[in-house]
Amino acid sequence: MTDGTAGTGAGEHLSAAAEDLGFTSKADVLAKSQEFWNPGKTRFWMGTGVDLVIDRREGYYLYDMSGRRLIDVHLNGGTYNLGHRNPEVVRAVTAAMGHFDIGNHHFPSMARTALAEALVRSAPPGLTKVVYGSGGGEAIDIALKTARHVTKKRKIVSIIKAYHGHTGLAVATGDERFSELFLADRPEEFPHVPFNDLAAMEEALRGRDVAAVIMETIPATYGFPLPEPGYLEAVKALCEQYDALYIADEVQTGLMRTGELWGITKHGIAPDILVTGKGISGGMYPIAAVLLSERCAGWLTEDGFGHISTFGGAELGCIAALKALEICSRPETRSMVHYISDAVGRGLRDIQDTYPDWFVGIRQNGVVMGLEFDHPQGATYVMRRLYEGGVWAIFSTLDPRVLQYKPGILLSADQCEELLMRTATAIGRARDDAARDGWRAGSPARRSAPVPAAAPASPAASGVSTDADGAFVTTRNGRRVPVRTTVPVRKAVTR
Ligand SMILES: Cc1ncc(COP(=O)(O)O)c(C=O)c1O
Repeated sequence: MTDGTAGTGAGEHLSAAAEDLGFTSKADVLAKSQEFWNPGKTRFWMGTGVDLVIDRREGYYLYDMSGRRLIDVHLNGGTYNLGHRNPEVVRAVTAAMGHFDIGNHHFPSMARTALAEALVRSAPPGLTKVVYGSGGGEAIDIALKTARHVTKKRKIVSIIKAYHGHTGLAVATGDERFSELFLADRPEEFPHVPFNDLAAMEEALRGRDVAAVIMETIPATYGFPLPEPGYLEAVKALCEQYDALYIADEVQTGLMRTGELWGITKHGIAPDILVTGKGISGGMYPIAAVLLSERCAGWLTEDGFGHISTFGGAELGCIAALKALEICSRPETRSMVHYISDAVGRGLRDIQDTYPDWFVGIRQNGVVMGLEFDHPQGATYVMRRLYEGGVWAIFSTLDPRVLQYKPGILLSADQCEELLMRTATAIGRARDDAARDGWRAGSPARRSAPVPAAAPASPAASGVSTDADGAFVTTRNGRRVPVRTTVPVRKAVTR
């Protein structure tokens, strides 16, 4: 438990890491963090009641500098999908350090080639080449540059409240909060349309001047609103109709988080480009990758030096990724994900039954989960109480009603149980906190304020309906758009 002073007093026990870095206390780190690193971020968390300075980390546990243990269900967006410092990934990287370093990005490389082959073999059909970045944003930029090269068009369509990273092109696909700060908003080239609105998507594509539509398979920073049945399939069909590419951003939905290695395959979609990052490194060495179809890979032959990145495809990162991909691909890992999503989903529904007026929704696809609360800042209340109670989960930046709740894919049955117990307590306490601040169940003002305009509650509300056989989707303006299943649609085992 924290009383706001945990770990900040004199006489606290310092880890060897803290001592090696020359810090005298947690308060010392926080003060210097403001002075030399990022005052805004440091103060934000202190002001929110989350005075976390992560020290030791092991599996799905984090330890604050004060020694307090937290179960991590933020996982940094899935970066720690396999747990912190997964022993197999650590062993692989440690062994590789006896031979490899970052490598020289100009030359062919054993590690880069081995990972490229493994990624292509794991991918939806039609993806045949791999380009590396050092992080997700760079990988998204590579995907967007590729789309422009292939189509000779500039426009990129994304959804309102999309999040694809903060690099040069990626930032323009996302929320104005981030693009305007650096004068990087370019609405003419980067139109945004509401999520789950096929009519708006078609309107954006109709002019045939769009290079690509980029979609997170489930928009993470928006709070994981689920695509309506048939929506992503229809977007892909529209892309084909209007000669735009479909870019699947699988940075948060890949690597078994939906119960399939790549979430997009649950929709039977073969994207033109697929982007992976975060968890692909096993959290041990930064790397991200872009998988391209043969059509999109043309520039790699035309000018193999077309995208240059010293750290993109760093060889130690490739070794980490090979191991992470292999662990994610094991049948026993798949079974674990299905177990965890069932157990945690069931437990959350029980908690919801206790607080139905406050805990108003569960968005779930596998271990991708968003918990909705009946307050514009509901997830912040719950996050604070979870933190106090030994769980770290984060609110959704672009919809703070929704808590991102992301269990790891190797979480044990005991850990699931402990997590649910702590979550039940925190949700109840957060409800009391909100009530003390004036929240009343069902208050229309509370309920409507931040609800994103872009996420209609049902296919009917969005004006989109799917035919009984699932082969066509009828858009708001009455058009029937074929849902093409270029790869077999596998039944979603977990939702
Ligand atoms: C869906 C998605 N795409 C891309 C990115 C960008 O990745 P990075 O932070 O590694 O640049 C993120 C980061 O959160 C993300 O969630």
